Amino acid sequence: MAGDTGALSPAIKVAALCGSLRKGSFHRGLIRSAIELSKGDIKGMEIEYIDISPLPMLNTDLESNGTYPPEVEAFRQKILAADSVLFASPEYNYSLTAPLKNAIDWASRPPNVWAGKAAAIVSTGGSSGGAKAQYHLRQVGVFVDLHFINKPEFFLNAFQPPAKFNTDGDLIDEEVKNKLLKLLLSLQQFTLRLQGKA
Ligand SMILES: Cc1cc2nc3c(=O)[nH]c(=O)nc-3n(C[C@H](O)[C@H](O)[C@H](O)COP(=O)(O)O)c2cc1C
Repeated sequence: MAGDTGALSPAIKVAALCGSLRKGSFHRGLIRSAIELSKGDIKGMEIEYIDISPLPMLNTDLESNGTYPPEVEAFRQKILAADSVLFASPEYNYSLTAPLKNAIDWASRPPNVWAGKAAAIVSTGGSSGGAKAQYHLRQVGVFVDLHFINKPEFFLNAFQPPAKFNTDGDLIDEEVKNKLLKLLLSLQQFTLRLQGKA
């Protein structure tokens, strides 16, 4: 059975972050599809969408004796509670977006709450499907001690017909949903392996 990690294994918790703040974001659509898959085709995985839009721009003057603004504290607690992270990362000018980098930076402040977690990236964009942004994100992950799965990689050309998303940003392509499923199963296995449970 797809993703059946055994009746005794508790579900892993995945925090899903979207680097786009746009209402009809394709990347948020990818996260919605991932959540749908986790409720159907995958056993033992709970994916929660974490909204990064309320986070202020990072400014260490907003910190006081190791405490952070309430929105930042809430975000950091969500990351801390997660076993792994799913980044839906658009490419802006060959790199990750400012909102996503801002979120990563806030959660990296002491104590760094990313440390030791497994992670995976999905991207969609122009011809390379966001590949350059993904490799920048992987580089950031080295310093914050995230462990990205290597395979499968998920790059999607959003603009080549037939349409992969509708105008609300919902993923409507079954083949792409299947690719997303494979990535999620890989993330699940890698998370359990990293935690010594598989
Ligand atoms: C400021 C800006 C820069 C962009 N730069 C790139 C780029 O370097 N490579 C690319 O593939 N797409 C680029 N795009 C297109 C986005 O990848 C595309 O609009 C994507 O759908 C954005 O994700 P979203 O639908 O989740 O908002 C850029 C878009 C914006 C707004």
